Amino acid sequence: MVRSIDWVDGKVVILDQTKLPFDVSYIPCDDYRTVAECIRTLRVRGAPAIGIAAAMGIALACQNVTARTYRQLRSALEPVFGEMLSTRPTAVNIRWAVERMKRLLSNHRHLPVEDLKELAIEESRRIRDEDIAVNRAIGQWGAQFIKDGDTILTHCNAGSLATGGYGTATAPLLVARDQGKRIRVIASETRPLLQGARLTAWELAQEEIPVSIVTDNSAGWLLHRGEIDLVIVGTDRTVRNGDVANKIGTYSLAVLCRENKVPFYVAAPLSSIDFSIPSGEHIPLEERSPEEVTTVLGRCPIAPPGVPARNIAFDVTPHRYITAIITERGAFRPKDIKKLARSVPVDDIRMRA
Ligand code: MRU
Repeated sequence: MVRSIDWVDGKVVILDQTKLPFDVSYIPCDDYRTVAECIRTLRVRGAPAIGIAAAMGIALACQNVTARTYRQLRSALEPVFGEMLSTRPTAVNIRWAVERMKRLLSNHRHLPVEDLKELAIEESRRIRDEDIAVNRAIGQWGAQFIKDGDTILTHCNAGSLATGGYGTATAPLLVARDQGKRIRVIASETRPLLQGARLTAWELAQEEIPVSIVTDNSAGWLLHRGEIDLVIVGTDRTVRNGDVANKIGTYSLAVLCRENKVPFYVAAPLSSIDFSIPSGEHIPLEERSPEEVTTVLGRCPIAPPGVPARNIAFDVTPHRYITAIITERGAFRPKDIKKLARSVPVDDIRMRA
């Protein structure tokens, strides 16, 4: 299992995903600003992984603060919370992680600052470890939708690299494989930063799961020809009515699945669900630099100089196109996701394949 981020010897160590698959190199961060910059530049990316990075960045900042009281520590951390929240707007996991770190410190405010610093490190590691356990549960629930011989398409990268480990959308694939099902995976390349081609294909090849790459615009034709049995993607933010924000291109895939009667699943840990937002139009969607579109990975220009480009990083898939949302607590119809925010017995709403 690939590790995208870790806490080693007082530093946050980040696997530089912009260099994959050709170069496996790590960035040791000893300052929270370096962690924030790694999130901004997608050296660490994927909703759960950037939540973990934000938590570890906060733990790092704690170590570097000179404070004698909880109050001094909290006020020194205020700009750190702000910096983490400003890195990328769409994935709710950053806010989720910041809130969790704030809550931890506040719940232990009576302790000496040195103890709080230690607790912050432990909590950020716990967030990472819990994420792996959550992903394994998503895998168990999700594998029921995969049959022996299926071909599954996934978009972008919602694998180990995008999480603490094991992945969200890739977890059902790993479990299905371990159950002895013979599966094939198609990774859509994911213009412009090629997370599907560079990262998902790399991860699955290491797992020895048969994987091939297609251009993003091939997916519709393959769905039409019956060459894809199901689609599973991850999410950066799923909201109360079951609308899902994910990598740009997800919406088109979901609509094409409906047209071709192919099931469309979203793997969503609870840390990616924002119950405070009623529907998808309220989700902030990141737009990135046009150069990511007019060049290949910032290197080779592919457009006439001076022609403007738009680089919309995420889209929103309306809940009506989604067959099921797979969480660590079970698979749910999108309309039932809101019930997870309340104390409704999940067995009453969980769906079976
Ligand atoms: O821009 P990225 O690479 O961070 O986008 C990532 C995605 O869209 C993933 O599908 C999503 O974060 C889920 S990762 C488990």
